[in-house]
Amino acid sequence: MIIAGGTVYTPDGLREADLHVRDGRIEKLEPWAHPAGAEVVDATGLWVVPGAIDAHVHGREPGFPEKEDFGSLTAAAAAGGVTTVIEMPNTLPGVADAAIFAAKREAIALRAMVDFGLWALLRSSTTEDQVNELAAAGAIGFKAYLGYAVRRSTGQVLYTPGAPDPDLEPPASYGTIARLAGALAQAGLPVAAHAEDPSVLLASAARVESYADLLATRPAVGEAVAVAALGVLARELGLRLHVVHLSSRAGLLSALAARAQGARLSLETCPQYLWLTEADYTRLGPVMKMYPLIKTVDDREALRAALLRGEIDTVGTDHAPHTDEEKLRGPLADAHAGSPGVQTLLLSCLELARQAGDPLRALPWVSERPARIFGLYPRKGVIQAGSDADLVLIDPNGRTVARSDRMASRQRHGALEGLEFSFAIRAVYVRGELPRPGLGRFLRPAAGTG
Ligand code: DOR
Ligand code: ZN
Repeated sequence: MIIAGGTVYTPDGLREADLHVRDGRIEKLEPWAHPAGAEVVDATGLWVVPGAIDAHVHGREPGFPEKEDFGSLTAAAAAGGVTTVIEMPNTLPGVADAAIFAAKREAIALRAMVDFGLWALLRSSTTEDQVNELAAAGAIGFKAYLGYAVRRSTGQVLYTPGAPDPDLEPPASYGTIARLAGALAQAGLPVAAHAEDPSVLLASAARVESYADLLATRPAVGEAVAVAALGVLARELGLRLHVVHLSSRAGLLSALAARAQGARLSLETCPQYLWLTEADYTRLGPVMKMYPLIKTVDDREALRAALLRGEIDTVGTDHAPHTDEEKLRGPLADAHAGSPGVQTLLLSCLELARQAGDPLRALPWVSERPARIFGLYPRKGVIQAGSDADLVLIDPNGRTVARSDRMASRQRHGALEGLEFSFAIRAVYVRGELPRPGLGRFLRPAAGTG
C-alpha cells in the first residue's frame, strides 16, 4: 500500500511524501511521485500522523458488559484515531495475577479492533512472585488504586466502599508500593497510581448535594499530598512512577518539586481537565462526575500551561463508561464516577494545541511520549521506516463536533459533548489495515525510557 500525496509528520518535521507500507510496517518515505494503482490511497491535502496511544482506558471486559466491552471500546478508539489502547486492570476480577491476566488477554483479543497493552493491578495482598509473574506475562505496568478496597470473594475493585465488611481487602497503599519496591524495580515497569490521598478524602467526607459539595469531598490538596508521597517513593526506592489523570495545580506543583529532587515521575492529564471546569456542571450534570473531579479555571490553566511547556508528558482519557442509569438516575452523590472519552482524544488535543498556536505540538502527547514511557517506541508512536503502520489521515480543513449520537462507546455521553474541533479524521490504519474485530494484537513492552 502507498499513502500518496499527503503531508507526513515525521521526527524531522513535516514532509511531503508518499508513505510505503509493507507487511504492516512502514517501509519507506519517498518524495511525491503521483503513483497510481489499486494499492494507492490518495492523501492529497491531508496530514498523515502516527496513530494515537491512549494509555488510560477502562474497557470493562471481563465483568461489566452493560458498561462497555473490548469491541465497543476499540471501535470508539479506532473511530477517533487511537490505534493503541492500554487497558486498566479494574475489570472483574481485578488483574492481580498471571492467570487472570492471561484469561483477560485471550478474551478481549477476539474483539480488539486496535492493538492493546494491559495494566496489572497492585493489591495490598500482592506478593513479589505475583509482580514477577505479571511482568513476565507482559504487563505494561502496575496500577495502584490508592484508597480503593478489593472484594476478596470476587476480586472486584470498589470505588465507594460502604460499611466495614470482612470481605473487603484494605486498599493498596504507599506501603504496598514500598513493600514490593524490590520486585517492581527489578521488573523495570512503571508503577501508576490513582493519586488522591485516602486520608485527605476520608477526612473531607461530607454530605453531597451540589457539585461544590462534591469538590469539597475530594479537594486538590488530596492530589498534592499523594503526588508528593509518590515522588518520595520514586526517589528513594528507584521506581518509575506514573501519575495518571493529574487534575490540579497543587498536584502539578508537587510533581515538579519531586522531579527537581530526582524522582522519576511521568505525568498524564486528560482532555476533560484541559477543557472543562466546575462551571460546566450546570450544562453537563453528572456526566462530568469523575475521580479526580474536574476542578477550577485556575487548575485548568495550570495544566494547559504545563502541558505546553512539556512538564506534563502525556494525555490519556481515563475513558470510563457506565450505563446511563448509573450516571444519570438518582442524586449526584450516587452517580457513578467516570465518563467515556477515547474517541475524542486525538482531535481534542489537536484543537487545544491549535488554539495555542500549532496543532502539531499535540502529537507527542498522544504518540511519542506514551510510546517511550511504556516501552513501545519506536514500534509505536512514530512514523519512520520499520515502525508499525499505525496511521491517521487528518483533514486540516475539516470540522468535527463531539456528539453523543456519533460515539461508538456503549455509553455515548462524554464530558466533551458539543466541543468543536477544526479537523476531521478521514482514515485510520492499524498496521496498514482498516480496523476490524480481532485485528488488534497484544503488545508486550520493551524496556521503557520514560
Ligand atoms: O472516575 C473514575 N472512574 N475514576 C477512576 O479512577 C476509575 C474510573 C472507573 O473505573 O469507573
Ligand atoms: Zn482510570
